[in-house]
Amino acid sequence: MRTTTFLFSALLLLAMGCNRQAPATFTVFSPAKKISVDVWLNADGVPAYRVAYNGKIALDSSLLGGFDLRDAPALHGGWRVKSHQTRDFSETWQPVYGQEKEILNHYQELTLNLEEQQAPNRLMNLVFRVYDDGLGFRYEIPAQPGLDSVIIMDENTEFKLSGDHLTWWQPGDWDIYEHLYSTTKFSEIDATSKRKHPDLAQTYIPENAVNTPVTQKTADLLYLVFHEAALINYSSMTLKVDKDGLKWMSELVGSPDDSKAKLKAPFHTPWRTVQIGEKAADILASRLILNLNEPNKLEDVSWIKPVKYVGIWWEMHLNKNSWDMASGRHGATTANAKRLIDFASANNIPAMLVEGWNTGWEHWIGFDDREGVFDFVTPYPDYDLDEVVRYGKEKGVGLIIHHETSAAPRTYEQQLDTAYALCRRLGVHAIKTGYVGTIIPKNEYHQGQWMINHFQKVTEKAAEYQICIDGHETIKGTGLQRTWPNFWSRETFRGQEFEAWSSDMNPPEHLTILPFTMGLGSGLDYTPGIFEIKFDKYKDKNQVNTTLAKQLALYVTLYSPVQMVADLPEHYEGNPALQFIRDVAVDWDETRVINAEVGDYVTFARKAKGSEEWFLGSITDEKPRDFQVKLDFLSPGATYTAQIYADAPDAHWDDNPTAVAISSQDVNNNTTLNLKLAPGGGVAVRFVKK
Ligand code: NOJ
Ligand code: CA
Repeated sequence: MRTTTFLFSALLLLAMGCNRQAPATFTVFSPAKKISVDVWLNADGVPAYRVAYNGKIALDSSLLGGFDLRDAPALHGGWRVKSHQTRDFSETWQPVYGQEKEILNHYQELTLNLEEQQAPNRLMNLVFRVYDDGLGFRYEIPAQPGLDSVIIMDENTEFKLSGDHLTWWQPGDWDIYEHLYSTTKFSEIDATSKRKHPDLAQTYIPENAVNTPVTQKTADLLYLVFHEAALINYSSMTLKVDKDGLKWMSELVGSPDDSKAKLKAPFHTPWRTVQIGEKAADILASRLILNLNEPNKLEDVSWIKPVKYVGIWWEMHLNKNSWDMASGRHGATTANAKRLIDFASANNIPAMLVEGWNTGWEHWIGFDDREGVFDFVTPYPDYDLDEVVRYGKEKGVGLIIHHETSAAPRTYEQQLDTAYALCRRLGVHAIKTGYVGTIIPKNEYHQGQWMINHFQKVTEKAAEYQICIDGHETIKGTGLQRTWPNFWSRETFRGQEFEAWSSDMNPPEHLTILPFTMGLGSGLDYTPGIFEIKFDKYKDKNQVNTTLAKQLALYVTLYSPVQMVADLPEHYEGNPALQFIRDVAVDWDETRVINAEVGDYVTFARKAKGSEEWFLGSITDEKPRDFQVKLDFLSPGATYTAQIYADAPDAHWDDNPTAVAISSQDVNNNTTLNLKLAPGGGVAVRFVKK
């Protein structure tokens, strides 16, 4: 770490035509000077900032309007700058798992220590961290007399846009992120029109606001992503659309008494983040969200292992069988689990998820009285948990235990110790959690402070018992996996399961938007690998809206340290494309974004952890595409065999989705590979050094 003051300058600007004292503007440059941020107090003593990227306006003058408080005057304006500090921070850190083995965290930081000019002279700090790929800033309330407990009724942070940008957005739902993304101009965002959805067990969209990450492209070709990092003990931020003011306004998720966050000083908000790039690929390469989180707090991480996994899962979504036993079609039987273990073991897949193993599923969706129903230690009588674990160990397949909380977090919290102690006894290190339904108690929301504290408690308790969490219907990723790497992956977006039962299935472009939105905050447990694309035997009106080759490419284009091999074993039988899934890695030493455009296509090349093998995945939306990809990422002088799983010439996501052309050729780092992607298609390649 280096601390300097010379890179920072406090400039006195002339306030033209104004006879008050000229405001001091503090300017911070990113390390390579790509980004500059100006911060000042306006005439009312309210902090304001603006951001430029290589001379282009990224954000226009925006207010940092602080907080409305219950039973206290707002912390809003009337500030003076008491003092300020700057520092230049640089470190390289190694994630426990991830898209690369080393991450550079280099920023210039400015802290303004503010004091109210009038009594009671309260104090607040503003901290800015400016990187070459964006910035983060947060409010800090130091410990001070007379300001102990604080109830925040709202946070008033603005992001003023330089134009009516093209926006990839989903509605600001306080309860769920499983909406499709819309692509419109900022002025055309109409989130409340998404209030009715036939297939969401919970949804609450109070305003014309969006959930973050939200991504925009400006007319002068800047890409901007607004999000937050390190969301702890606070309420999630949605962004309200102010069309007249052409700005996003922070809007925090609420609670039963309409407050947004209850805190004790000292405290700080999560980082409010803006990632900025000149190419869409720059956004995918940005690690700003991770960098703004604290370092790993876990000492022993030997039990945290990225894995592929099979599951007693898709068969329930296809309605082949059921989670509950009373249906007479119970999926989670000992015999079925052993069948899955045999399949996993034969195909180099080290883990298996079993859903519907524990009592309570008869009283799940559609019931309001869900408190005390699920039991996280008692298996159904036809599922011998100990025997399944024993058999799995014999075959080298570890269990992922499922905890569907049915959004009754108090019931879950009461059982955390006993449930996790059971995992410890069994030697199980992984749990998939779920939160389907409206939260009990009423008017708490999945994304409010109360639930965020619940998710944090689960994460920390799980770490104590050496358990990794794959959280479904949980809180959006804000990079906390840097600090608690046992929070493995998430489903905080529309997953593949919707293809099995929803009336509005995921369109082909969905998968080209996820990496630019939810993929920026955490791993994505999308559950790829469906080979029986049409599954007419089970559901003739539903299907997966990709080609089979695109399903393979998703293992490379959607980053997650846990990747499902989601289809039924019988659907893989005899299909040579399964070889790619056997081979593909889930943890990486290096990642290159080869090409990308939001909502259109993405191509990644990734080098497997501790190996000389590279994998490439390329996917497109509904349009066919040809790409010429230079293989200059391969080691110079070496020859590789490229094993290519491409869409066949006549493949099409709807008309002919399963036609895959498998070929192999010798390549080196001078080779240019021609990739042909079918409509809704993709290509997956494995490069093996000869
Ligand atoms: C929703 C989850 O996303 C899905 O994966 C799971 O199977 C069901 N809930 C049941 O818990
Ligand atoms: Ca889900």
